[in-house]
Order: sequence, then C-alpha cells, then structure tokens
Amino acid sequence: MNLFKAIVIGCGRIGAGAAGGSMQSHAEAYSKHPGITLSGLCDADPGRLLEAAGRFKVKSDSDYIRLCTEIKPDIVSICTPDNTHDEIACSLLESVSPRLIFMEKPVALTADAGAKMLALAQSKKCLIAVNYTRRYSEAFQKVRDNISAGLYGNPLQATMTYGKGLFHNGTHAIDLLRYWFGDFSSEKPFEKIWGPAADASYSCVLTFQTGFKAVLRAFDERVSTVFEGDYIFEKGRVGFTNGGALWHFYDNTESPYFRDYRNYIEKNTQATCFAQPFENCLYRAIDNIVAALNTSAPLLCDGQDGLMAIRIAERIRNDYEAHSSCCR
Ligand SMILES: NC(=O)c1ccc[n+]([C@@H]2O[C@H](COP(=O)([O-])OP(=O)(O)OC[C@H]3O[C@@H](n4cnc5c(N)ncnc54)[C@H](O)[C@@H]3O)[C@@H](O)[C@H]2O)c1
Repeated sequence: MNLFKAIVIGCGRIGAGAAGGSMQSHAEAYSKHPGITLSGLCDADPGRLLEAAGRFKVKSDSDYIRLCTEIKPDIVSICTPDNTHDEIACSLLESVSPRLIFMEKPVALTADAGAKMLALAQSKKCLIAVNYTRRYSEAFQKVRDNISAGLYGNPLQATMTYGKGLFHNGTHAIDLLRYWFGDFSSEKPFEKIWGPAADASYSCVLTFQTGFKAVLRAFDERVSTVFEGDYIFEKGRVGFTNGGALWHFYDNTESPYFRDYRNYIEKNTQATCFAQPFENCLYRAIDNIVAALNTSAPLLCDGQDGLMAIRIAERIRNDYEAHSSCCR
C-alpha cells in the first residue's frame, strides 16, 4: 500500500480538534491511518497553528501554498470557514495540484463557484471528496442498505429539521435525503427562518423522482440546535434526533392500544453501530480516500455530491426570495 502525504488547512474544531471539538478531526484521522503520513498543518491564526502543530508534531506554516510547495502532498484537507472553501481549492489546483482534495462542506456558497472549481479539478485530474459526514457513518450506511434491500418497505413520507443556515447545515439534510432516497424532481420552499452569517434557513417540500415527498423544516438555532429526521415506510419507521446521536426504530404492527388499528410501535433491536454513530467517521472517510487513490474505489461523497447539495440549496433560496414579496 502507498503511503500518502496529507496536509490539513484550517486547524479549528473539525480540522485539528481545537477549542474542544467533540468529533474526530481530519488531523487525528490522518495521523491514525496506516496508509497516510500527516505531513503538515496550516492555519491563518498563529496561536492556533502553534498549538495544533505541537500536538501533532508536524511541519506548520500560515501560508498553505508555501507549505504545499515544500511538502508536495498527495491529499489536502480544506477545513476553513464556509466562504473560503472553493477559493482555497482553486488556488491549490492552480499551483500545487495534489491528487485529492478533501473538502469540508459546503464546497462553495454558489453553484457557479462550485462548478468552476470542479471543472478545474477535473482538468488537473485531481479527485474531490466532500465531508457530508453521515455518508461515512456505519449507522447511516446501515439504514441506507436496509432501505435499498426493502427491509422497511416503500418510503411514504420523510420529515427533517435543521438550523444554522441552509448552506451551512441544511445541505447536510439535503445530502442525506439524496443518499438514502435518490434525486429530487422539484423543491417548493414555503418558509424562511433566521440563520447565522447571512445564511438563512428555509423550509421546503422536496419531491423525489419516485414521487415520494419529504418536508425539510428550518428551525431557529438561537432557540436550540436541532438536526433530526423521521422517515415513515410501509413496514416500519426510522427516526433520529440530536444529529444522529439517538435512534428510534419501529415496526408497523397491530396496535397494542386500539382494537383493529395498526400503529408504528418502537422496538429495541438495534445494531451496535447506532450507539456511537459518529465515532470513526473521519477515519472511515480517509479509508475510502486511500482506497480511491490506491484502487480507484468510488468515493462515498464526491465533488458532484457536494455540488448537487449547493445547487439544490440555491434553487430553494432563489425560489423563495423571488416570490417572497409578491406571493407570500
Ligand atoms: N462535516 C461536518 O460534520 C462538519 C463539522 C464541523 C465543521 N464543518 C465545516 O468545517 C469548516 C470549519 O469549521 P470549524 O468548526 O472547524 O471552524 P473553526 O472556526 O473552528 O476553524 C476554522 C479555522 O480555519 C482557519 N482559517 C480561516 N481562514 C484561513 C485561511 N485562509 N488559511 C488558513 N486557515 C484559515 C481559522 O483561523 C480557524 O482556525 C466549516 O466550513 C464547517 O462547515 C463540518
């Protein structure tokens, strides 16, 4: 197996586990993977960079082009704020062109900027992987396998609730719905809720190409952080709350409460992966990246998935804003 050199740009919570990050970080996952050498870290904040470089004991620089020119990494993670992702990816592609860029979501804040970045990556033969984390979680993968195998029967309705902005966090929900149920044929927004950093959250009805519908509900982050989903199928029902930390599974069965009724009744049987669904997500993502570079295995979340999420978000926002003054 080749040993790939990796660099992380942005040593914050998700990049290097700074400031009490509760999830596994890119730097930690690279440093644990036997197919990778974590070779360098970059951050624009000198104090943060010094602290992270000390913990991981690797080269560091506040200038990512200088660091990449010196190290010539195979893989670069971009873990900086949302509004910097595509610009940093394009400048890497123009100068040092690694074999793969692993981007935090969202890949850009407009579909045009995302498409331009992906076209440049393709011209440089650089793969783009995107961290819509749930695609790398064994728990979310298992539910997808169960849906595909027909274990729950046909999907009948889905509801997801999110806050913190349509692009920042709503795209996680859009990507998960696409991952589990396939592509949408239309999106109909109906509500706008406050979101941070000029990224409002919008509610909408999403219709899948199969005809089945999902409702995406926006929630005000200032009240509480809500990211959850409820999915009703013919034979069963699946739900998660707290981002996926807690799961609920139900069977559609004869009601124990009402004679001659059927109800969705919660059951306890759960695979162990549902107990800690995010424990090793980034390690699993990097395992997928290593397999893609070594054996051309498909990426579990590629640049097209990242672009599709922001394309859909952009359509929802533009449609709502175009009609907000005249029709709502
Ligand atoms: N996939 C997920 O589940 C998930 C979870 C958390 C965060 N994220 C995403 O990761 C990104 C970072 O989030 P975070 O919570 O770690 O943020 P953070 O603020 O903790 O860290 C960002 C870091 O980037 C640095 N930075 C900013 N501009 C830079 C530049 N030009 N060059 C080098 N360093 C620069 C900052 O100094 C900071 O240390 C965001 O886009 C966020 O959406 C994704």
